[in-house]
Amino acid sequence: MKGRIFSGMQPSGKFHLGNYLGALENWVKLQNDYECFFSIVDLHALTSTYEDTGKLPEHIYNMALDWLSAGLDPEQNVIFVQSQVKEHAELHLLLSMITPLSWLERVPTYKDKLQQLGEQGKEINTYGFLGYPELMTADILLYKADTVPVGEDQVPHLELAREIVRRFNYLYSPQRLIFPEPMPYLSQAKVLPGIDGRKMSKSYGNEIPFAAGPDELRARVRLMVTDPQRIKRSDPGNPDVCTAYTFHKFYSAGQLERIAGDCRQANIGCVDCKKRLAENMVSALADIHQRRQNLEANPERVREILAYGAERARKVAAMTMEEVRAAMHL
Ligand code: ADP
Ligand code: NA
Repeated sequence: MKGRIFSGMQPSGKFHLGNYLGALENWVKLQNDYECFFSIVDLHALTSTYEDTGKLPEHIYNMALDWLSAGLDPEQNVIFVQSQVKEHAELHLLLSMITPLSWLERVPTYKDKLQQLGEQGKEINTYGFLGYPELMTADILLYKADTVPVGEDQVPHLELAREIVRRFNYLYSPQRLIFPEPMPYLSQAKVLPGIDGRKMSKSYGNEIPFAAGPDELRARVRLMVTDPQRIKRSDPGNPDVCTAYTFHKFYSAGQLERIAGDCRQANIGCVDCKKRLAENMVSALADIHQRRQNLEANPERVREILAYGAERARKVAAMTMEEVRAAMHL
């Protein structure tokens, strides 16, 4: 039997190439080997951005475009918007009753984020914000997922999820365990730098949008930093400290030795080297971009796909909730 995966992403509106290489590309591979539930987790987005929700519909729609154009198959996988399946909220509430506050307060991402925010943290430190991993637990358990692709920083969230599962099973279903204990699936992390050389992140403004077409790709690559020691065209460069070269590693397979050699011997300048990179990226992303344009021309189709996904997700979620309610005598 195939394992079952649940994974989600927040519709933040700035899906970038780092998000693709670090997460989505992996989902596209996993879809063949697992039964997958992929959710655009808009309720999670509310745990930090609740003041300005007007852009959410657009962000959700764009994320659906990103996923579908990347090659996630809406038949093979259940692709849906979290808030369209109300059972997420219900299970979150029920699980919250059996989760000691101390379990949530010691989650490292919670403590780190608060520390990072300082004074500002007071505004964001809501009940829902603390409950972020609780909601994530509900997401996973609703579909009885046994496998959750996550980054290193999310591993403690899954430890929490397993503690909650054990507590739930112990309290309400000791004879017949309702929930499996979900395990993290860690892929080798590919971390893509942004055009300024730091990790690509929407919070740095250094991203290359995943939806970028050829012209925008070329414009962003033109701004990319290279070896800072290389001033003149005739200076030899060092690819090991060059952000453009890091990108070449992702997008110029088969040409790497030549590119590194040309750089070290100053046979090619950074401007031309980046032109080469931009063209390689344009062709590597051409299929995705084409698929995206086809989908953009047909927004109704995208909405249908999401409605179909929500319907399928609801069926599974409703069955789980029946078991949960029975176990809890509700
Ligand atoms: P951001 O840093 O832009 O806010 P998120 O924190 O929303 O991105 O991350 C969403 C997903 O994308 C996570 O799985 C994260 O590990 C992955 N990711 C984000 N930035 C990168 C990057 N530069 N390289 C690889 N993966 C990344
Ligand atoms: Na699948």
